[in-house]
Amino acid sequence: MSLIEARGLRRDFVVPKRSAFERTRRHTALAPTDLDVPAGTSLGIIGESGSGKSTLVRLLLGLDRPTSGTVAVDGRNVDATASARSLHWLRRATGLVFQDPYASLDPRMTAAQIIGEPLWALQLPGDHAARIREVLLQVGLEPEMAGRYPHEFSGGQRQRIALARAIVHRPRILVGDEPLSALDVTVRAQILELLIELRETTDLTLLLVSHDIGVVQNLCDSVIVTKDGRIVERGATKDVLLRPQDDYTKALLAAIPVIPGSAA
Ligand SMILES: Nc1ncnc2c1ncn2[C@@H]1O[C@H](COP(=O)(O)OP(=O)(O)O)[C@@H](O)[C@H]1O
Ligand SMILES: [Mg+2]
Repeated sequence: MSLIEARGLRRDFVVPKRSAFERTRRHTALAPTDLDVPAGTSLGIIGESGSGKSTLVRLLLGLDRPTSGTVAVDGRNVDATASARSLHWLRRATGLVFQDPYASLDPRMTAAQIIGEPLWALQLPGDHAARIREVLLQVGLEPEMAGRYPHEFSGGQRQRIALARAIVHRPRILVGDEPLSALDVTVRAQILELLIELRETTDLTLLLVSHDIGVVQNLCDSVIVTKDGRIVERGATKDVLLRPQDDYTKALLAAIPVIPGSAA
């Protein structure tokens, strides 16, 4: 059994009518999809903008409700219609980092409050302040920075805070939806190093949406390629990146040089 299992997972959105006479149209953001992510592995999700990457991730995390199909995490059914309380186990098991570290941090909260929020929201036992200090150090920030507000940090530091918040409760699954895309090159390299270290030192399962092939190469065991809401190719990272079979994957990779031998 895989840690994450999706079966026939599908999501349609209703397209807004342009006139009263137009019939209601549906857009399939994700066509029926099967996916298995074994525990401790890392999966890269690549594909052009609008191809359904975020929709897939949101469905897997119970943040959106599928039109049809099922998701199970660790053998338990993910029911996005359930109350927050009954999805407590899933929040406990997962951590999330989004693209924009500014938009995802509450400007009125200190770094410590932001990072510690999952601990108290999940009502986890233990010394929260000590855990916050520990995780600040882990992401390369000074514990003395705990009392500062988001605007007092640089963009890279803010994404470190977002990462600290995502791992503070020691989730089994870390999900990044373009977590490095908004960062400049040097900061991106630093956060990438952090993620590599996290993978090496924990048994974290990683789902990573990225259009940066280098990031996927460095972090992911396997890759799926999405186009128009479908997975058009999937396989081991080195196979997909170095010997893509699908024309779309070939086109996607053509613009970006792939360095042979550097695949994870
Ligand atoms: N809440 C929504 N309402 C309507 N359409 C949506 C919604 N979310 C996503 N879509 C549509 O679903 C498709 C896939 O979007 P998304 O999963 O965000 O793609 P990606 O993350 O690959 O850029 C797009 O056509 C997008 O416009
Ligand atoms: Mg997206």
